[in-house]
Amino acid sequence: MSTSEAFQLDLAAAEAYEKRFVPAMFAEWAEVMVAEAGVRPGQRILDVACGTGIVARRAAEIAGASSVTGVDINEAMLTIAARVQPGITWLPGDAAALPFPDAEFDSVLCQMALMFFPDPLAAVREMRRVASDGGTISVVVPAQLKDQPAYGPFVDLVGRHAGAEAMSLLDAYWACGDSERMLRLFNEAELTIKSLRTHIGTARYASADEFVAVEVESTPLMDRVSQKQYARVREGATEVLRPFTDQHGAVAVPLHGLLIVARR
Ligand SMILES: C[S@@+](CC[C@H](N)C(=O)[O-])C[C@H]1O[C@@H](n2cnc3c(N)ncnc32)[C@H](O)[C@@H]1O
Repeated sequence: MSTSEAFQLDLAAAEAYEKRFVPAMFAEWAEVMVAEAGVRPGQRILDVACGTGIVARRAAEIAGASSVTGVDINEAMLTIAARVQPGITWLPGDAAALPFPDAEFDSVLCQMALMFFPDPLAAVREMRRVASDGGTISVVVPAQLKDQPAYGPFVDLVGRHAGAEAMSLLDAYWACGDSERMLRLFNEAELTIKSLRTHIGTARYASADEFVAVEVESTPLMDRVSQKQYARVREGATEVLRPFTDQHGAVAVPLHGLLIVARR
C-alpha cells in the first residue's frame, strides 16, 4: 500500500491546483468530509496534508479559523493556503512525524493524501497520537481504480501514450482504495471505526479537453508527459469520456472515494 509518490508541486502548479483542481473536484469532497467528521464549533481541528487548504477552510467556517491548523510537507501548497485564508495556522510538517504534542486536537482530518505517504500506518498512528481521548480521525481516499468508471479508461489512455513516470503517479492515486485493507490499517493503529462508506463525487468540466487540462496542468503529471504525449491524451480523451459527456460537450466525471471516520 505504500508509495514513493508524494504529489509535490512548485508554486505555479500549486496556484493552478487551487484555482482549477480544487473547485472542479476536491471542494465537494471537503464539504462531505467535514460533515462526515461531525466538525462542531469549539473543536480544535487538524487538517493533515492540507495542500492549499480546502478542508481546513471548510472546517474553519464551523469551528472558527483560530481553532484550525493545516500541516503539509509542501511549502508551495502552504504559501497558497496562507494567501487564501491567513486566519488559519499553516505549518510545514511530515504526516509521519506531526509537529504537535499528544492529544492536541479533537478532530483530525486527512483528505485525498494518505496514498502519497511512504508509510500510511505510521501516519495514521501519528493522527491517533495527536487526537484527544474520544477525538475523531477522518480520512478520505480514492477507491480502487477497478471501481472508477471514468478514471479507469482515462488511466488506460494515459498508459497507452505516456511513460512509466506518469503511470507511477497515476497508479499511486488508487493505492489506498481497498476498504478491507483500510479497515486493517485502522485496526492496526488501534482506532475504533465509527463508519466506513463509499461516496461518489462528481467533477464537472466544460469539455473533455478541460478535464485533461486540469488533470495534467494542476498536478505533478505536467512534468511527466511530453507535449506530444499530452496532445495524444487530449485527442483520445473525447472518446474515452463520451459516456460522461452531455449533448453540449460538458463532462461530469464520477470519482468514487472511501470515507472513514474512526475514534481514538
Ligand atoms: C492531492 S493533495 C491533497 C491536498 C488536500 N488535502 C486537498 O484535499 O486538496 C496531496 C497532498 O499531500 C501532501 N503530502 C504528500 N506527502 C506528505 C507527507 N508525507 N506529509 C505531509 N503532507 C504530504 C502533498 O504535499 C499534497 O499537498
